[in-house]
This record gives sequence, C-alpha cells and structure tokens, in this order.
Amino acid sequence: MVLQGKVALVTGGASGIGESIVRLFHKHGAKVCFVDVQDNLGQRVLDYFAGDPNIHYLYCDVTSEEDVSRAVNLTVERFGTLDIMVNNAGLSGPPCPDIRHSDMLDFEKVFDVNVKGVFLGMKHASRIMIPLKKGSIVSLCSVSGTTGGLGPHAYTGSKHAVLGLTRSVAAELGKHGIRVNCVSPYAVLTELALAHLPEDERTEDARAGFRTFTKSHANLQGVELMPDDVANAVLFLASDEARYVSGDNLMVDGGFTCTNHSLKVFR
Ligand SMILES: NC(=O)c1ccc[n+]([C@@H]2O[C@H](COP(=O)([O-])OP(=O)(O)OC[C@H]3O[C@@H](n4cnc5c(N)ncnc54)[C@H](O)[C@@H]3O)[C@@H](O)[C@H]2O)c1
Repeated sequence: MVLQGKVALVTGGASGIGESIVRLFHKHGAKVCFVDVQDNLGQRVLDYFAGDPNIHYLYCDVTSEEDVSRAVNLTVERFGTLDIMVNNAGLSGPPCPDIRHSDMLDFEKVFDVNVKGVFLGMKHASRIMIPLKKGSIVSLCSVSGTTGGLGPHAYTGSKHAVLGLTRSVAAELGKHGIRVNCVSPYAVLTELALAHLPEDERTEDARAGFRTFTKSHANLQGVELMPDDVANAVLFLASDEARYVSGDNLMVDGGFTCTNHSLKVFR
C-alpha cells in the first residue's frame, strides 16, 4: 500500500498500460481519477470497480488545455488534492517507411498528444503541486525516446521530447520539492502496438506475430513485458520510495537499448 492516502490523475487510463496503472494505484491505496477520450473503455474500467468512490473517470482530450485544466481541477475538487500526475496517453501514428510520403497532419497529431499532452499535464499538475511543495509527475516515454529506428519519425521525435520535457521540468520543479520522471518501456502488446493494423486485422495471429517478433529482438529472454511491469515502474516513481529520484528515465526494456546483438557476439 505504498500510495495510501495519495491522490493521482492518470491520462489515457481506459486501456493498455494506463488501465494497469489505474488498477495498481488503486490496489496500493490511492484515490485515482483517470481520463481518456474513449468513454466506452473508461466505463468498462469503472464497471470493474463497481461504484468504488475512490475511482473516478472523466472525458479529457489531453491536447486541449481546457480539458486538462478541468481534469486537474475536478480531481482536486473530488479527492481534495493532487499528489501524482501520470502522463500516459499516447499515440504511435501510422507507419511511414518513406519520409517523402509523410503526412503532416499525422505528424502533428502524434506531437499534439505525445508532447503537448504531456506538457499540459505537467503544467496543470504544477499549478496544484507548487503551493503544496510536493508531488510526483511521471510520464510515459519509450525506448524510442533514446533510440532511432524503432518506430515512425513522429513517434520517435515525440518520445525524445518527452524525455527532454521531463529533464527540463525536473530542473524547474526541484526547488519546490516536486519530482519529475519518465518510464521507457520496450514493446508491450496493447492496442497501440497493433494500431498500424486495420481493426479487422488485429487478430490472434497478429498478436502472436507481435510476440514472436518482439521476443526475437529482445535482450532479456524468458519473460514477456506486460502492462503491469510498466505500471510497477510508474508506481515506484510515483511513490515516496523514490523520494530522491528526479529527472530520471527508468528503462523497462530488459537491456534492449544498452545492448546490441548485431555482431552476434553472445548469440
Ligand atoms: N505499448 C507499447 O509497446 C509501448 C512502448 C513504449 C511506450 N508506450 C507508451 O505507453 C503509453 C500508453 O500506451 P499503450 O500501449 O497503453 O496504448 P493504448 O493505445 O492501449 O492506450 C493509450 C490510451 O491513451 C488514450 N488517448 C489517446 N489519445 C488521447 C487523448 N488525446 N486524450 C486522452 N487520452 C488519449 C487512448 O484512448 C488509450 O486509451 C503511451 O504513451 C505509449 O507511447 C507504449
């Protein structure tokens, strides 16, 4: 129960990694407000908690400053404060193997959600946390936040920006006792991981193919990265167990980004 008595706001909490964070934070005693743009999925998560007053769902598009500001205000109104902000909502955008054909609307959409959305979360959480002189902000980055060639340009650029924002905002907020960190997972089988496929192609075969592909490129073998593994890293950074950790990028990648097997020295 490392979050007993804490209040958290989680963006993109209606599915995938965000949903795992909501469940784990609740299990650890937090009061959790989660937001998303998919109300049907938000309701599904709420149904799981069967009317528990310590869980609240709101519609919020993280690209809208008005929505993010309102979500922060409603969290404080409902639960009394804001201790933890998790900027998890994210998009991968469509694959585009040839830069000459990149669509700028797709590029802007990815940056709007992954960069502007994270910045707005940081900005409005700070509004509550600075006067309180405490708080923890955790954002979802990625292995694409430090390494090129793992995803579309916009996604890779946006995740490098999440790391940059994390370090920059940690530099400002340290004097207020607020910690700012991010978490960088390797591939996790969620809707985002299959987003490049049309919905009717997100079959069991496609999921099995994703698992085989990611396993074959992973450094750490014998374990599949699950949403809960990422949520556990977020939990640590959110909690007082990490009270002297700030400006950090916690890799949850089984050594993927710090090893290189292309020379097959150990394979
Ligand atoms: N799945 C992976 O392999 C992986 C790897 C590294 C990093 N990540 C990061 O983890 C985070 C969560 O991804 P996931 O894999 O759980 O994906 P997901 O698609 O399952 O969940 C993302 C959630 O964000 C919500 N969302 C999208 N746009 C939004 C907006 N404008 N406002 C509010 N909510 C919005 C979606 O509706 C969805 O519920 C993302 O930031 C992603 O980049 C994922």
